[in-house]
Amino acid sequence: MNVPCTTDAIVGATFSKPSDTAFADKLKLRKTSADSFSADYFKGPKAFRDEWEIAKVDAFLTDAEKQFHAITIETAEKTITVLTSRKGKTTVLVKGRKTASASPATAFTKAPHNRVKNYILPEGESVPFLVKLGVMTAEGKVHAQKYDKFRQINRFLEFVDDILSDIVDAHEDAFPGTPLRIIDFGCGKSYLTFAVYHYLVVKKGIQAEIFGLDLKKDVIEACAKLAAACGYDGLRFACGDIADYRAENAGQGAPLDLVITLHACDTATDYALAFAVEHGARAILSVPCCQHELNTALGRTAPDEALNPLLKYGIVKERFSALATDVIRAETLSAHGYKTQLLEFIDMEHTPKNILIRAVKREDSGSLTTGADALKSALGVELTLERLLRQ
Ligand SMILES: C[S@@+](CC[C@H](N)C(=O)[O-])C[C@H]1O[C@@H](n2cnc3c(N)ncnc32)[C@H](O)[C@@H]1O
Repeated sequence: MNVPCTTDAIVGATFSKPSDTAFADKLKLRKTSADSFSADYFKGPKAFRDEWEIAKVDAFLTDAEKQFHAITIETAEKTITVLTSRKGKTTVLVKGRKTASASPATAFTKAPHNRVKNYILPEGESVPFLVKLGVMTAEGKVHAQKYDKFRQINRFLEFVDDILSDIVDAHEDAFPGTPLRIIDFGCGKSYLTFAVYHYLVVKKGIQAEIFGLDLKKDVIEACAKLAAACGYDGLRFACGDIADYRAENAGQGAPLDLVITLHACDTATDYALAFAVEHGARAILSVPCCQHELNTALGRTAPDEALNPLLKYGIVKERFSALATDVIRAETLSAHGYKTQLLEFIDMEHTPKNILIRAVKREDSGSLTTGADALKSALGVELTLERLLRQ
């Protein structure tokens, strides 16, 4: 789409008259800072609000007229209207004056390059698995609807990058010349598993073997096919339950370098964390979700009455239980020799599942007394991770 303004000059825009391929019935963008827009969109009776970075708006505008046949763009100086006929002919009007007729394929003027984020997998660099998973085109252009996924993948790689020298150095000391050993528990469609493999092996030239485990047979089969299609020889997948895998592999195998477990539901995270500790994982990156265990247990036990106000309101009890669970997990890892942090994975706008537990084995590796004992006794519940590591 070719209109006479740059993306960073836009203060607001409305997109209506959706085509069959439109992701929403109507979309409104409003500039909220130099680099971002609020995006309000409607699909049937549902309304959604999101925050879009300027790079995502750029990507979306490139062919927005294919999704919306009536577009109004406001800048400080002018109102630009872009109308697309059923036959795909696009007409651009500025303040009601007809100025141009452009073909739908022509590009919107891009924002200056210094606005583009410095991603580990940058836009414009074609990455085979991202192309095959439909995140980007063969030329490396990220599809607008996949921009959040693209951002999440890059954010996750930053976390891996932060701990990389720790795990590579420790591995080289202990097992020189051998591949890193990494497991992704509850890998699902494995966007992040592929991303880690690509980053380590293809971009950094580090030897690595990554194993992804998930309950879903069809998903695992698709992942294995994709790994073969990409020529990612060191990436393997299997179908199974994390708890069973832990039981079957107790005491087996060389120490692990990294255990990843992102959004594995409820106590599946605990089995993955327990496995990591038991197999001496050098580092752990975990984003828990669906932390139901404590919330359910607190309905049955008699916790310290000081907690009553926190447990009185259902929504607060649920969130408190989820946060307390992750704090106790973090403290349990600390007690087992890890330097542990709780970090924000991606902002709340995109998902409430946003606490990342990052744990790296301490040099001394000894047990550490943590401050969680009083909290645990106030709750009166022993959580799965503590129970597994006590056995
Ligand atoms: C929300 S998806 C997340 C996928 C991926 N880790 C990510 O963050 O994009 C959660 C995945 O965990 C898997 N999962 C949940 N419980 C599991 C268990 N006990 N054993 C193995 N996989 C499990 C589910 O099948 C699902 O594919």
